[in-house]
Amino acid sequence: MNQPSVSMNDTGLKNDLLIRACQGQPTPRTPVWMMRQAGRYLPEYQAVRAKADFLAMCRTPELATEVTLQPVDIIGVDAAIIFSDILVVPEAMGMKVTFHDGVGPVFDHPIDGPREIQALEPVVVEEKLGYVLEALEMTKRALDGRVPLIGFAGAPWTIAGYMVEGRSSKTFAKVKAMRYTRPDLLHQLLDRLSHVVSDFLLAQIDAGADVVQLFDSWAGMLTPDDFRVFSLPYLKKIVDRVSVTGVPIIVFARNAGHSFTELSQIGAQVLSVSWSEELAAAKAAVQGRVVLQGNLDPCALLGPIDSLRQEVIAVLDCMGHNPSHIFNLGHGILPNTPVDHARALIDIVKEESVRYHG
Ligand code: CP3
Repeated sequence: MNQPSVSMNDTGLKNDLLIRACQGQPTPRTPVWMMRQAGRYLPEYQAVRAKADFLAMCRTPELATEVTLQPVDIIGVDAAIIFSDILVVPEAMGMKVTFHDGVGPVFDHPIDGPREIQALEPVVVEEKLGYVLEALEMTKRALDGRVPLIGFAGAPWTIAGYMVEGRSSKTFAKVKAMRYTRPDLLHQLLDRLSHVVSDFLLAQIDAGADVVQLFDSWAGMLTPDDFRVFSLPYLKKIVDRVSVTGVPIIVFARNAGHSFTELSQIGAQVLSVSWSEELAAAKAAVQGRVVLQGNLDPCALLGPIDSLRQEVIAVLDCMGHNPSHIFNLGHGILPNTPVDHARALIDIVKEESVRYHG
């Protein structure tokens, strides 16, 4: 069943499966999109990227719009996610960041102590991050209601991690050292970030985002007790402020399954489950309080299509009969994913999920 839901509805969307699933309403099939779906696995992305560096693409609304639409046009996902990055927030606070092939993001002057935190600039979102808002507006117009548009931001803990580490890190040892030596400073930083992130998400909603997702990709670097002190309360603050809009909020706290019960009570509508966690356990922890999103292993896309189908069915066997579920990967799609397989995944979910829905 490739034709999504109904015709136009009160959201003005031709395909509102994602919105309905976020609200816990039944859908005729499971909506599907992929984290990092606008990216290097697509030759069409590579072609744009060959002409512009990554941050320039983020800052040029025409280019951001073009690559945001690519997975909608090429592989048929049920939602677009705006092309940007979680690190535009520290950049807006005055921390220069560059992206290097094979290395990832690198900050010129990582946060080392109170001085750098003091020096962070206040952010008027419309001034410093207006280019993201423009990209959302432009994408929304170009989509013309075909599918919902997802806005996003990093969670305070994950952004703080990059700001203190200065680059990707296997251990997060610097920011965790700060947690043990100067927890007050870390809280100060997390608090600053939670204000900026809330303002940013509210502005994204104003600019047309139909759903927003918070990426706490490094939640699993905290001990379960620390997650509840250094991440959860800040996620809740953001959700509290953004909830007034009525726009659905998805929280992806990667590898924080230990706290799904608590996470299901902060007011977000959807929890995204990482591939290393069991959907059945997540389902038991949240007791129907939130909708679950996930959680196919991105590496399943690297195997043959027959086995991909079996993996999709395993996810649907666990979740398909729930009134609502959002199919996604358990983390971002990998750059070496064959495009045929990405397209096959979307087709398989569309086909197979129909028989789970009444
Ligand atoms: O999902 C989408 O398609 C929207 C775009 C998007 C990007 N980054 C584009 C991007 C989103 C939602 C993100 C979020 C993001 N950025 C996260 C959270 C999600 C996750 O994967 O855990 C994180 C941790 C970042 C920070 C970041 N950005 C890193 C560590 C890197 C380097 C590693 C890598 O994947 O290259 C980036 C760069 C980045 N962000 C690219 C893209 C398409 C690759 C840039 C390029 O073309 O060279």
